[in-house]
Order: sequence, then C-alpha cells, then structure tokens
Amino acid sequence: MEFSTKTIAPERAPGACVVAGVFESRKLSAAAEALDRASGGAVRAVVKRGDMDGKSGTVRLLYKTRRIAAERVLLVGLGKESEFGAKAYREAVRTAVGALADTGAADAHLFLADLPVRDRDLGWRALHATTVAAESLYRFDAMKSKKSPPRALKRMVIATASKAAAADAARGLAEGRAIGAGVATARDLGNLPGNVCTPTHLAEAATKLAKEWKLGVEVLERRDMERLGMNTLLSVAQGSRQPPKFIVLRYNGAAKSAKPVVLVGKGITFDTGGISIKAAPEMDEMKFDMCGAASVLGTFRALAELAPEINVVGLVPSTENMPGGAATKPGDIVTSMSGQTVEILNTDAEGRLILCDALTYAERYDPAAVVDIATLTGACVIALGHVASGLYANRDELADELLEAGGEAWDRAWHMPLWDDYQEQLKSPFADVANIGGRPAGSVTAACFLSRFARKYPWAHLDIAGTAWTSGKNKGATGRPVPLLTRFVLNRAAKA
Ligand code: BES
Ligand code: MN
Ligand code: ZN
Repeated sequence: MEFSTKTIAPERAPGACVVAGVFESRKLSAAAEALDRASGGAVRAVVKRGDMDGKSGTVRLLYKTRRIAAERVLLVGLGKESEFGAKAYREAVRTAVGALADTGAADAHLFLADLPVRDRDLGWRALHATTVAAESLYRFDAMKSKKSPPRALKRMVIATASKAAAADAARGLAEGRAIGAGVATARDLGNLPGNVCTPTHLAEAATKLAKEWKLGVEVLERRDMERLGMNTLLSVAQGSRQPPKFIVLRYNGAAKSAKPVVLVGKGITFDTGGISIKAAPEMDEMKFDMCGAASVLGTFRALAELAPEINVVGLVPSTENMPGGAATKPGDIVTSMSGQTVEILNTDAEGRLILCDALTYAERYDPAAVVDIATLTGACVIALGHVASGLYANRDELADELLEAGGEAWDRAWHMPLWDDYQEQLKSPFADVANIGGRPAGSVTAACFLSRFARKYPWAHLDIAGTAWTSGKNKGATGRPVPLLTRFVLNRAAKA
C-alpha cells in the first residue's frame, strides 16, 4: 500500500473513493457536512432515510454523487461523539479500510484524520490511520500454494482540510508507515511454522534485514556460546537437532560514546515444553514463542527507516525447546553465564533460561536501558488477558516511559509488581535459584527470576504471552509490541 497526505476539500478529492465519518446518531462530521453541501443534500438524505445512523462498525457506500469528484462516497459510523477517543478512532479507520477492500476502488481519500479525537493531535491521528490501515490489509499466504490475488486498493491518502498542520500529518504518516512495516515484519516471522522458522531462519532473516538497511549484525554459534559460558541457554538447546543461534543487531544513530538501548527478544522457535512436555491442545501455537525475537527485528526495521539519533542493540537468543535424548531433565543444575547456578525443576520454564544469559551478555554494552520482550508465561494471560502486556522494571522511571509509549502507540502495557517478597518462591535447596516459583503469581516470579540477572543496569521486562498473537478463527501474530518499542526508542531519541 502506498500512503500519502494531502490538503484538499472532500468534494474535490479525485479518484475512486472519498471516506467521511458520521457520528451517532446521525450527526455529520465536518467532512461529511462538506460533501453534503457540495452535493445539495445527498449525504443528509441517506442519513434521513435511516441508512446510516452513525453506529460504530457500520458503513454505507454511495456511487456517482453529483458535484463530488470521487466516484464513491464511503460513510463510516463513528459512534457517540462524546465517547470518540483513541479506540473509537482506530475502529473507524479499521471499518473504513475493511469496507474499501471489499470494493474495486484502487485508491481512496480518507477524511478521518481531521476528526477531533480526545487528547490526540493530528500527528497521532495520521500515524494511527496509517498503521491501522496497514494492519487491516495484512495477509499471510507465504505457505499457501495459491496466493490470494493482489488487492485492488493500492493507494491511500490521509487527507486533511487545513494546510496549517500539514507538516504534522506528514510526520505522523512517515512514522506510521515505518511502524506498519515493522509490525508486518514481526507478523510474517511469527506466522511461519516451526519447521520453517528455525533459529537458523531467524538468523538469516536478521542478516537479510541488516544488509537491506545497513545495520550491524553478528550471529554467535554454539561454540561461541560455549566459550562465553551461556550454559542455561545451551541447556535448553541440547534437546534439539536444530543448532541454537545468538543474534546481535546494531543500529547506530548517535555518537559511538552514547550508551545504547538494548532490546532482548525471546526466540524459542518452538516450545514443546521439553521433558516437562506440554499438553496437546493448542500446542501448535508454541510456534509463536519467538514473537519477542520477531518484535526486536520488527522494531529494527521501523527504526532503520526513521533513522532516529540513538544507538540500539538487539539481542536474540534463539533455540527450540524439544524433548530429545540429550534434553535437560527436571532437577538438573546448570551454571549460567553470570555464575549463578540454576536448578531446572521444569524444562517448560525455558524462556527465562535463554533470557538470563542474554541479560548477562547485555552488560558488555554498558546500556542506558535494557528491555526484554518475551512470550514468557501462561500466568500473564490469566492476569491480563489479551489486552495489556505485563510490564516489570527495576526502575520506576523506565516503567513510566514504557507505559507512556504504550499508551501513545495504543499497544498498552500494565505495570506489575517486582517486590522482593516474591523472590522467596524461587528458593532452591540445591542451587542458587530454581527456575520455577509455583502456581501463585507465575508471571511475577518469572520476572523475579530475570531480575537477578539484570542488576547492573536499568531494566524492564515485557511479558507478551497474551498480546503477541490471537487464537481461534483469526489465529495469527499481532506484531505487538513493535509499536510500543518503536515509540519508546523514538521518544528517547527526541529527549536526548
Ligand atoms: N512459552 C510459554 C508461555 C506461554 C504459554 C505463552 C501459553 C503463551 C501461552 C513458556 O515457555 C512456558 O511454558 N511457561 C510455563 C512456565 C511454568 C512451567 C512455570 C507456563 O506458563 O506454563
Ligand atoms: Mn515453555
Ligand atoms: Zn516458551
């Protein structure tokens, strides 16, 4: 999809379709009003007949309306004006784009970004029109023998009526375009099956991304990890035939001396649970256990295009978690790269085992902040469902930054406790720490485990187990939290 911005009057917008909103009940937006005036009452007539009452999720299409330049007018229900906030705005864009994709229109002028959205400026509205449009049109057919035919819809114009704020709209659109592409990158990787998206495939995807966007990349092999003493990571890999990979990405947008932000993504390309094997129902969804890794690659994709003045390092520890003859057994004790010994009581708590060595490895960058992203616990899904990612941090200021970025990006997280009291649950009679803390507060104790390896820098952890993909009929990766992470990095760069 090609996105652009333009200042033009709705009735003059050329091409296949002009899109305008109607509030509940039957109140025309400024753009719909302009179309109505130009056409001598054609829009109001439709509303009066009861064919568009403004309810959210509804649309009405008019053809060849007199004195309107575009071939079609698409009216979109916006819901109640008094409740028109970020969520309703995004829903209106989604509904409009879905309806457009059902027509033969090759292009459209969207007059939604001018709508007054509670507490959101034009830049935000243009950005979200772009990302929501890109997300709604996303398809994944890489594994189908017959690809879906190309879409008729090729060009979308985020139109505004006033020239004054054109620069804000253009900036929002540019950010939205890059974030949309980053989200698609993450979704593509997440949706690939485990037999295709192996650690080797992830490493190749990172290498390709780096070549295309002139990023730094390095892939550590098993022997490098052995030399570094990444034994908890290797203990997960030892049950698998697939070689593990440790991917390092670098984006340098600031002076060499500027401390980087480090993003660490869990890259389990399939999680069977290992010897503590998982139950069969929905086990296929454990191909999504590399969505943290995919979000790091997606964020690098977005950042590379936007070129902010900041340094960012991406670390992706990647392996399968399989029950092989050489697999780790419950009760095995291994020494992590940090020197702390870990009693592995459940081989299905493998994410923290690969992340802890990556967190130790992160120390060498003297980071300004480290954020890890992981589909870490089923318990987080129980706590927060599929709406918010779980957020933990050893500095409240860092947590606040991420919460704010999530709100702005509409990719929200919720701050969870990391209190010392929970550390009790990780005590082991044999080793320094156990890798599980029992059923109560399972997402918290997983974060507590990680915190023991992140003592040397400001650190935050995002548990995306409930937000990285959707199940059921529309099963698929969401690309979250690429929008949150990109916004976080852009905000940091702007502050520096
Ligand atoms: N990848 C899973 C977490 C997960 C499970 C995410 C279901 C989304 C849906 C993780 O590796 C895991 O298996 N965690 C265990 C930890 C337990 C053994 C302490 C879990 O959540 O059951
Ligand atoms: Mn697991
Ligand atoms: Zn896992």
